[in-house]
This record gives sequence, C-alpha cells and structure tokens, in this order.
Amino acid sequence: MHTSATDLGNVASSAIVALPAGATFLTTRTDTGLEHVLVTPDFSDAESVAFAIARSMNARSDEVDEVPDLTRTAHVARLRLDRGSTPRPDTQAGADFTVLSRVIGDMLKPGEWVAMAVRKPSKSESRHNKIWLEHFGVRTHHSLAPNAVVMQLLAGGTDARRAMDLTVRTASAIPGFGLNVTGEKVSPAKLVTSFIVLAVLLAGAGIASMLIPQIAWPWWWTSIPAAVASAAVAVLFGRQVLPSFARTVRRLLPWGQVPVPSRRFGRWQPPKPARTVQNKETGALTEVPAQDGDYPLQENAFLVGPHLPLAFVSPHTGAGSGSASTATRSVPGELRAKVGPRAGVVDDSPVHLSYADMWEGLAAIGQPGSGKTALLEHLWGSLACDRKHPGAAFGLPARNAMVAFDTKGDGKATEQYAKWMEFAGDETDVFHVADPTALEGIELFPDLPGQTAHEWARDVVSAMQYIWGEESIGARSFDTLTNVMQASKLIARHGIAQRVVLRTLPTDASPWFYANLLLTNEGDEIGSELFAALADAAVQPDAPEEMAQAVATLSPIYGTGVTQAQRRQLVEAPRTKISALVSAEHWWSRPSTRTWDELLDQDRAVVINTGISPWGHVLDEKLRTDLSSLMLFTLRSAIRRTCVGWFESGRAVWVFADEVKHIANVSAEVISWMRNDARAYGLRCMFATQTPDTLIPELRRILLGFGTLALFKQKEGTTVREIVATLTLSGTTWDTPDLVNLRRYEAIISTIYDGSELEPFNAVMPDYRGERDAGTWAA
Ligand SMILES: Nc1ncnc2c1ncn2[C@@H]1O[C@H](COP(=O)(O)OP(=O)(O)OP(=O)(O)O)[C@@H](O)[C@H]1O
Ligand SMILES: [Mg+2]
Repeated sequence: MHTSATDLGNVASSAIVALPAGATFLTTRTDTGLEHVLVTPDFSDAESVAFAIARSMNARSDEVDEVPDLTRTAHVARLRLDRGSTPRPDTQAGADFTVLSRVIGDMLKPGEWVAMAVRKPSKSESRHNKIWLEHFGVRTHHSLAPNAVVMQLLAGGTDARRAMDLTVRTASAIPGFGLNVTGEKVSPAKLVTSFIVLAVLLAGAGIASMLIPQIAWPWWWTSIPAAVASAAVAVLFGRQVLPSFARTVRRLLPWGQVPVPSRRFGRWQPPKPARTVQNKETGALTEVPAQDGDYPLQENAFLVGPHLPLAFVSPHTGAGSGSASTATRSVPGELRAKVGPRAGVVDDSPVHLSYADMWEGLAAIGQPGSGKTALLEHLWGSLACDRKHPGAAFGLPARNAMVAFDTKGDGKATEQYAKWMEFAGDETDVFHVADPTALEGIELFPDLPGQTAHEWARDVVSAMQYIWGEESIGARSFDTLTNVMQASKLIARHGIAQRVVLRTLPTDASPWFYANLLLTNEGDEIGSELFAALADAAVQPDAPEEMAQAVATLSPIYGTGVTQAQRRQLVEAPRTKISALVSAEHWWSRPSTRTWDELLDQDRAVVINTGISPWGHVLDEKLRTDLSSLMLFTLRSAIRRTCVGWFESGRAVWVFADEVKHIANVSAEVISWMRNDARAYGLRCMFATQTPDTLIPELRRILLGFGTLALFKQKEGTTVREIVATLTLSGTTWDTPDLVNLRRYEAIISTIYDGSELEPFNAVMPDYRGERDAGTWAA
C-alpha cells in the first residue's frame, strides 16, 4: 500500500525508468466509463512495466488489443507555458496526487481525453531545470526527484475551448505544478496564416515597386513568384502535407499516442543574480538587475516527478473505471486484522468486517448471480465457527442466536446454511414451511401469560396488516378480523368444533382454520353452525367470561336478525385474507411447536425455508412471501419480548435474509425498527437484495443507510445513481461506471470500524463454498 507520496514516488520512479520514450499515459471517457491506458511503443518489457505501474497504484493492468481511438474529438489542444512565468515553490510535497486523477475523471465528457507523453530528460535539461528553480529559491520540487520525466500534455475536447481548458485544468490539478500555463489549439492555422501574410506582403511589395517609379527595385519581379510559392506552402501546411506538429498529432492519435516533447531550440540563457559591475575606466559602480534567464525546456515541455504521469492511468482513486482497468482502493489498515468475518480479498490478502460494529447492519446489493448469497452464507458460516470459540474474534458478543430466512423459493440457501453449520460442528433447526409432513413448527402467535384472546387476536391482525398493508386491511376489516380471530382462538382452545353436528370438524386445527369457516369461506351454513356452537358453549356454567364477550363481538355478523346477505357483505373483504393463510394450515397446525422466544433464548441457529422442501413441496409464490413476512413480523415481536437488554449483556440475535423484498413487501416498518431501534436488543441484520429499485422507497433508503454495504455489480440506472450518491457521502469520488463495471464476485465495500465510516474499497470474493468443501476455508 503506497499511502504516502514518497512511497508512491519510489515505486513509480523505478517503474517509469523502464519505459521507452514516447510512452503515452492516457485517460479517456468512453460511453461506458473512464479508461486509463498506458500506450507504449512495442518493447519487450511492456507487460511487466505496466504491471509494476498498476501495482504501484493498487490497480489492475490488462493488456488491451485496441487502443482507444482519440480521433473522435475534432479539437486538440496542448499545454504551453505562459511567457515569463516563473516557478512557485512546491509546497505540496507529499500531497495526495489522487486528486489529479479524480479531477481528470470528473471533467471528461464522453469521447474526450487527456494524454501525457513522456521521455527521459537530457542531462542538460535536468541541470538547467535545477539551476533555474534554484534561481527562484525553489529547492524542493517534484521535478528534482530522481527519474523525473519530461512530459507534453495534450487534450481532446468537444470544442477547441474545452480542449484548451482541459489541458490547463489538468495542469492546475497537479500538486506542486507551480507554473502559469495556457492551452493552445493544435492546428496548422498559425503556420498557414504566417505564410499567407508573407505571400500578401511579397505580392504587395512587388506590385508597389512596379507602379511607383520612386521605388526602383530591379528585382521587383522576383517577389511575385515568391508570393506564389509562399501561398503554396500555406496550402500545403493547411492540408497537412508538409510536416508540422498538427500533422504529427493527427498521425499519432489513431494509435492512442501523442508526440514526445521536443527539445528546446537555441542556446539557453541561464538566469543571473543581481550584481554590481565596476566600470574599469571610470571606476563607477552600476547595478545590474537579476536576469531570470530562459525557461529550461521547450515551452510545451515540462519536467515533472515520476509519479505524476501515473495519475493518468490511475483509476480515479477508485473502483472500476472501464474494462481496461478497475481499481482496488486502499484498504483501511484496521480491517486487515481479524476483527470479524472475512469480507473478501484485496491485494491477495483478506480484509475483515468488524463484529463490534455489526449492529449497524449489513446489506448486500447486486444483480442476480453477483454473489450476494455466497457472501451471506459465508458470514453465517464465520459466525457459526466464531461463536463456538468465544474470544477468537474480537468484538463478537458472548452469546449469539442466529436466524436465517431463505425466501428465494429454491431452497438452495437453506441447504448451504445447514452445510455451513455442520462444517462448524453445530446444529441447525431447519423449518421447511412448505412441507406438509413435518411435525415440528414454530408457534408464531403463542399464548402469552396474562393475554386475553382479544389481545392475542389483535396481535395476529396487526401482523396481517403488516403483510398486506393498511389499505388492504382498513379499520373495519381490522375489527371484523380481530373479532373473528378472537372467537376462533377460543374455538380452538376449548375444542368447540366437536359440538358441530353438520359435519365432523377437526378439533386440533388452528384458529385460522376456524376463522376461515366463520368468514363463510366454506359456506354460510357451516359458519352459522360453528357460531351457534360457540354461543352455546358460552352459556355453559363453567364457560370463561371472554367466550361470552367473543360471542357478543360477533353479533354484527351472526346476531339474530342478520340476514345471509348482510353477513356476506360484512365478511366480503376480510374473508380473502384468511383464506390465503389457511392454505398453509399444515404449518399452523404442526403437532410439535416451539416459539421464537425459546429459539432465541437458547441461542439456536434457525433456518426458515419458505421455498421448496427437500421432498419437493412448494407453496405458491404469494403464500410464500406472505408467510415470510409474517415470520419476520413475529420474530420482531419475540425479540421485543425476549431480548430486552441483550446488547448490554453481550448477547446478539443475527438475522440473515436473502431477499428483503420477500420479508417486507408493503411496509418498511419492521426493517426500519430493526435498523433504528433494535440495537439494545442485540439485533444484527444481514440482508441482501437484487433490485432495490423495486423496494418501497423508504426501505431502499434504510438499506442504503446500513453500516456496511457490499455493493456488487448493478446495472439499473436509478439504483446505480442512488448507490453512487451514497458512496460519495464518504467524501470520495465515485461514478456510475465504478458499479457497472464491477466484475462478477467483486464488490465495493463500504463499512465502519469502531463507529467511524471508512473509505469504501473494492474487494474480490473468494469462492467460500469451494474453500469450505476443499477444507481450506478459514474464518
Ligand atoms: N466468489 C465466488 N467464486 C466462485 N463462484 C461464486 C462466487 N460467489 C458466488 N459464486 C457462485 O455464483 C453463483 C451465484 O452466486 P449467488 O447465489 O451468491 O448470487 P446472488 O447474488 O445471491 O444471486 P441471486 O440474486 O440470484 O440470489 C452461485 O452458483 C455461486 O456458487
Ligand atoms: Mg441470492
């Protein structure tokens, strides 16, 4: 890691010294993003030098067959020294040169480019430069570094002004550049104009001496052919037949190169200090003022430190700037230690996430197949291993309950979660919700001590409101459903169904089953019968008081005088809600159940699979998401009951969910609670989602506000922009191509350590599953 400019300079100078003259460092913006290219004339070491240069910036080098076409922009300019400019001292020693690459990245429009061709300075150029700088009192300067290079800077812009601007703005972003410069258009126009002017003058002179006898010039007639010749030269320059700088540029651009800076013409006037001269004859003293001397190089050439050209090929301080090179940013040193689970590999060594900061949550976001589940699984596996060895990982709570939701449908994650747990030598409680033959279930709505049937029913209906939304279950439906659920609960608890004679009803069914009947989903008759049975039981001498109350609350539906038509109207809205859930009756009525509270309190590792069971049972998609959301909601209720004060007492509940939209599709309420209010309960959320754009906006905002973000490849425009905006909050510059151009299994990680935001960086995900199966995985 070369964090200091000195380090970078050292590496850069050893890499750059191997480059042949004419090597061009280039940054261009293509339609897909920034490209950073080093174009060298063919030479044997090209690849290893490119690699060394890439290494020095923690970037990646790829050999490309096609160099970017720089002829797309019609206007080219080059950097020129402002006449009479004097150097300013370099106060920027050690300044972050990444600023330059960032500035370049930010100002280029598609098709535009800036390029720097470099060559080694001659001995006299270096010497002159030193003398010149010293004359101005500049003693530390990047151009005095060993292996400094002479560069010429050109830019291509959509119009001439922009091209000139690009050169100047680039130069002014070079830390310690310290010279006044301007941009000049690269075109043969100046040459053409001067020859035209010459032709006009010659022709004028000839004509004048012909007409005016006073000007007796015997050779007057020669000026006419000279004028014609000069006009011809102007045309030849204009058409770029004769060699000119503009022609050289035009010839090199298709090859992705720009011309090497040329040497200075003429003798160099060294600067002279002020001195006093004595006239030998008179003895008089005269003050000769200091002379600044000439700029030591040709006016378009600049001697610069060896690390500066690298800014042109440094992916602008960060991630993916095009296929030619995608950067890996520097990784905060804290994460190199085992402070938590591995989060990928940077520079061949692992980086970790901080367990102690995980209460702020983790969200993995990326398009299908980008590796989100693989990451979550591995985190689950790490946690499973680490929790068996308390103290092995700094910052991990002493006791950890784990819950994973596999809601994708294919049951694949469940399989993997179980395998990881087995790998850790621990047990998992897997619940295949779709399996009608399973005996073990979770009682999502347990009877709580002191809770009345009415309170219980309210809890249940609140959960239903969470999964379907308040529009779907309005105030009136809420009441009807509560009353019906309350009655159903009592019917189930007291075995009232056996009193029904119309048809034999099971007595061990769930309240949902009886609610379904009360809401007349199986006909009006059986509903009325069941109600009658309840009303009959309620008047028995030993009947609980709440039974009579339940009967009373159902009077708007089943009271005397209510017609079948009136009843139908009342139950119309709520009945579909219950009928949706009752198709999972096998889940509700499993003979052996535990509660969330028990599972949490015993630090179990629970996996809920709402997708296909290992024996091929499936739920329809709607039911799958309904049940998944219901599970999350009830888990939340259990956490609020059971996990009070867990954070303080060193306990944690880890919740893993593979696709957030399956557990929160209409309301962000629970997730929002989990993110904002659940710290004290020891909750830590590890969530993934493919398409934040389809999430409700509030949920998207909450997810992007999680402490750790693992951002995988993403193409959807709105999402990409939103993520970029989030990343940029850290104060570093990010652009859409950074995300779009991520490779498979590569992610931008934005995380925190000890409560502080760290600068995001790119990490490559190893094949954790493969490592596990090969036995090479380590937490
Ligand atoms: N680092 C990796 N190296 C090799 N293969 C990987 C890596 N990460 C994931 N894979 C494989 O790529 C496939 C897709 O990965 P994964 O299931 O994690 O993607 P995902 O982002 O969860 O996709 P989806 O959004 O569809 O759930 C899997 O078969 C997985 O085994
Ligand atoms: Mg997945």
